[in-house]
Order: sequence, then structure tokens, then C-alpha cells
Amino acid sequence: MEIKTFKVEEWMNEHEKTAIYNIADTCVNTLSLDELFAITGTNKASFFESISAKKLGYGYIQGSPDYKNGICKLYKNLRPENIISTNGAAGANYLTFYSLVNPGDRVISVTPTYQQLYSIPESFNADVQYLHLKPENNFLPDLEELKALITKNTKLICLNNPNNPSGATIPDELLKEIIEVADGVHILCDEVYRGLSQDNSYQTSITDIYEKGISICSMSKIFSLAGLRQGWIASRDMSVIQKCLGHREYNIISCGVLDEIFAAHALKNADKIISRNKRIIKENLKILDDWINRQKHYSYVKPKAGTTALIFYDFNISSEKFCEKLHKEKGVFVTPGFCFEMENCARIGYAGEKDELINGLTKLEEFAEELESTGL
Ligand SMILES: Cc1ncc(COP(=O)(O)O)c(C=O)c1O
Repeated sequence: MEIKTFKVEEWMNEHEKTAIYNIADTCVNTLSLDELFAITGTNKASFFESISAKKLGYGYIQGSPDYKNGICKLYKNLRPENIISTNGAAGANYLTFYSLVNPGDRVISVTPTYQQLYSIPESFNADVQYLHLKPENNFLPDLEELKALITKNTKLICLNNPNNPSGATIPDELLKEIIEVADGVHILCDEVYRGLSQDNSYQTSITDIYEKGISICSMSKIFSLAGLRQGWIASRDMSVIQKCLGHREYNIISCGVLDEIFAAHALKNADKIISRNKRIIKENLKILDDWINRQKHYSYVKPKAGTTALIFYDFNISSEKFCEKLHKEKGVFVTPGFCFEMENCARIGYAGEKDELINGLTKLEEFAEELESTGL
């Protein structure tokens, strides 16, 4: 089975270790266990004592009750049986496509987004169509375009809310209109940045307002614990859950018992971690916003949520060359627009270390001055 190169992951793997200023990461400043325990006020010794006697069998096959109950609290209408534990959101997206999509099915996916949402169904020989999110429309889906793409063969509509890379969020009214247009077609919504909003709003989950909604989420971004590799699929449609569980038996059996324990602990303290992370994204976006307002050659649509922004430049150079040159000459690591099927732009992840962001942006500004002097 052929699958396209996962451009963003390939770019990250090739460049992250050699960068001086990493402003490409999409997690909110990742936590160590010590930091997690400090935030949650946990006694480390007694925590480890409580888990070190546990037998490391397969554990709860479909996900531990503590983990699933913690996840249910992030939604309005879900019970533990509506949740499947997966290896990150990456595993959740893959399992959903693997379980639901057949050759010839139409799958409509927003773009730009995380490439899994269109390249995996393409690899299963689905008829994948792009629903374009454009800067001039604040990176929001266009209902007329969606209507024109839906056929009787449409199996799945894929959204990403809040959106990576643009940081756009779909307002509730528009989400409801999309559901009306979907008219019974399943909607997969990748919600890995849900809750990381600039205005304290908590984006409505697709599963809370649509029976045929499938929410994909994880511990990576919202909880800054990507190293746990814990994610989930959530849906009120039990036929989706059953199909995914059936395929999952062949795929992972169960997730890591220890990973689920740490994830459940973080979920129990969700409010504390999310408020730390919202503080970081707000402070850091202010730095980015002040910076961009001073720029002659760069512009953006200000993100409403998440950890990323697409920065457009006005130089005549491909995004790949721009980012390679920036990395080589300035040590700055950002992600080229071509990884998101876009040009003349690069994605910045602004939710990491504050100093690294400030220094990286300073270098990015210097880079623009140098490009300007070459007449590009
Ligand atoms: C939109 C989106 N979905 C899924 C993933 C994968 O996340 P995880 O670490 O949970 O597998 C990412 C990672 O960057 C992402 O941005």
C-alpha cells in the first residue's frame, strides 16, 4: 500500500535536532513528570510507590476506567463506553480511517491541516476532496464549497478545530451549519488543540452536538504530555466505536498501562494544567503579535486558539528554500508552508520557551532584512 510522505513529520525529524531556535514545536511547553507533580501538588514518592506494585499486564484492553472517566469530563454527553484509548491522536486518526473508510468512498478534508486527515484516506484509495481554508476567509470552511463536494458516496467529513496550522476556530453557528449540510454523514473532528483558546472559550466538541460526530484528541498539546503517546477516539455513535474496536484488536491490543496512569492523573488535574497552558499561549501570542505588527515583510491572520500561526512573507522564494536557508543561516527552525499544501508562508509554533520565541523572532526579522538586501 502506497502512502505519501508525511511532509510535516519528515521536516520536523530532519531539522529539529540541529536547530538553535526551535519555534516549530506544536506542544505547549512540554512538561516533565517533576513539573507535572509540582502543578498537581502530588507527592512523588507516594505516587511512585502506588504504581510500582502494579502488575504490568495488558491492563484494561479498551482503556482504563480512570483514564476514560477523566476524558468524559472534557465533554458534555459522553460515557466511558464512548471512548477508545489510542496511541496519541495520530493513532486515533489512523484507527478511525482504517476502520471506516473503503476504496471509492468520498472523504472530504479541510486543508491546510495535519496531513493524516487526507493522506491516510488517500492511501486507502478513497476519493479524497479538499475543502480549502483560505486566509481571506479567516481559514474557515466555506459552506457552499462543502455542499458542492458532498455526494451520496460521502463517508466522512474531516475537520480540525482549532486548526493546525492557522489557529482558526470554527464558531458554534458555523459548526451547526456544517452539521446540517453533512445531513447524517459522519464528521471526524481533530480536536487536539481544543480548549487552548485566547478568549477563554471552550470550543464545542463535535460529539457534544452531533450523534455522528467523532472527536479525536490526546494528551500531547492540551496537557503538554506528548511523550505519553496517549490519545482517544470519542463518539456517541456506538457503531463507530464497535468498528474501531474491532480493527484495534489487530492493531495495538491495549495502550501502555503506565502511560494511562500518568494520563489519568493529568486529566484529574485538567483545570490546573489547562490554565497553565492558556497563560503560556496568551503571553506568547502577545509576543508574536507585537512582533508581527512591526514587520514589513511578514503578515498573518491572528490565531484564535491552539499553538501555531501561519506567517506569510512577501519574498519571491519557495517555502522550502525559505525555511532551509533560515535554518542554515540563522539556526531558526520553522515549518514550510508546502507541508500544508501552501506557499509563501511558514508555520510557527509559538507555545514553547518564551526566550527561544523572542530570540527566534529576532533572527527571523534579521533574515528578512538580509533577503531584502539581496533584492528577492
Ligand atoms: C492536528 C493534529 N492532530 C494530531 C496530531 C498528532 O498528535 P499526537 O501527539 O497526539 O499523536 C497533531 C500533532 O502535531 C496535530 O497537530
